[in-house]
Amino acid sequence: MTYASPKGTYDIVPDELDSSLKWAESHLWQFVESHFTKIAKAYCFQEIRTPYFERTELFLRSVGESSDVVSKEMYTFNDKGNRSMTLRPEMTASVLRAFVERNLQQLGSIHKLFYMGPMFRYDRPQAGRYRQFSQFGIESIGSSEPEADVEVISLLFTILETLGLKNLTLHINSVGDAASRELFSFRLKEFLKPKLHQLSSDSQVRFEKNPLRILDSKDLNDQAILQEAPKLEDCLSPESKEHFSKVLHYLKALNIDYHINSKLVRGLDYYNQTVFEITSGDLGSQNALGGGGRYDGLLKTLGGPDLPSIGFAFGIERVIQTMLSQGVNLSQKPVPLLYFVPMGDRAKQECFRLASELRKAYFSVEVDFACKNLKNRLKNAEQRNAKYIIVVGDNELETGKASIKNMSTREEKEINLIQLQEELSIIEGIK
Ligand code: HAM
Repeated sequence: MTYASPKGTYDIVPDELDSSLKWAESHLWQFVESHFTKIAKAYCFQEIRTPYFERTELFLRSVGESSDVVSKEMYTFNDKGNRSMTLRPEMTASVLRAFVERNLQQLGSIHKLFYMGPMFRYDRPQAGRYRQFSQFGIESIGSSEPEADVEVISLLFTILETLGLKNLTLHINSVGDAASRELFSFRLKEFLKPKLHQLSSDSQVRFEKNPLRILDSKDLNDQAILQEAPKLEDCLSPESKEHFSKVLHYLKALNIDYHINSKLVRGLDYYNQTVFEITSGDLGSQNALGGGGRYDGLLKTLGGPDLPSIGFAFGIERVIQTMLSQGVNLSQKPVPLLYFVPMGDRAKQECFRLASELRKAYFSVEVDFACKNLKNRLKNAEQRNAKYIIVVGDNELETGKASIKNMSTREEKEINLIQLQEELSIIEGIK
């Protein structure tokens, strides 16, 4: 019997032999994750980690029962205590749950949190869409000012730009405050009522549950009907209009290009005011690298203080896939700096001792102890792309000196084994 990973999942491995899966090589993930962390810290965000599963009720209350994520895509199960649990489909709800439970509001007025890790959605798998996928995201809790929106969007752009990504489009819209959305829903329903039977079945359901989401419909007939529909921007309250225009003003000042997309409403129910998405022309049909928006009021719904908040999340798979398709991969596969080839038992012991000293100083060192034939061992070192190689035999043990060979230039240099760390640092330009 052979086993395969569950549909919609993948393995992250050091070397991927299938060229279409190169994005699943672990060095890329390490590079991108540490890059996210560095930039998030530069913006003074701090990490939060929460459990991979939560009580189902949390997602029903926050992400919303009318969203596709909750109504169709959740991995929900009863645990042995017969409590309904769900593998997290996203992190915003979990972050807010933790915020309330850990009383984090006591620690100040603005709370800037980042996270990364696996999420789970039972969706139809295809390129760029998985059942277990990873997100990097941030939540900025405590400010209703447009500056907070801009800081979050600017962080997002700094991450993408410093990764070298190009051809990205920032789609932005305002879905307004509760009053704006209520007015728009009313006008939209009035407009659609006589045409209800012509709408797709999904939009007919949304008509009752969440009319705003009809704007999101991919159905061409729905889109044609919507051409003449009332506009969301005409229903924005003066406060919402002012907030949005300040956001756009600051984005301009930061030279962040945007495209106002008046149909952008996002798929999760908790959004209000600013919403945004980043797309890449170099991804296939699943072209959203990330998205987010404001969700003022959600924290209060979950039993916390009434603090306005905004955040976003990226799909890490999609970011790495875009990097590779744009040829802007800055990550290098790790290779051994030094490869020892010991000849005989005594040499093996000495090489292990030398290697362990160097490894304590974070040099990456390999000792080839498995194979006997010198030719094969040299081939192994080549295959592993080792930078330097040292062969240690009786002569080297006696004199304490060995020859270190640079595998790419083929240059050899005598080196003192007693001061190996020192000499290696000099060769590498560390000292
Ligand atoms: P979301 O738009 O549902 O937002 O997901 C954010 C990103 O996660 C998407 O743009 C996409 O890159 C990635 N993603 C979503 N589903 C999949 C999937 N099945 N396979 C691969 N990638 C996927 C949220 O999750 C919100 N919590 C974002 C947020 C944070 N809003 C405010 N704060």
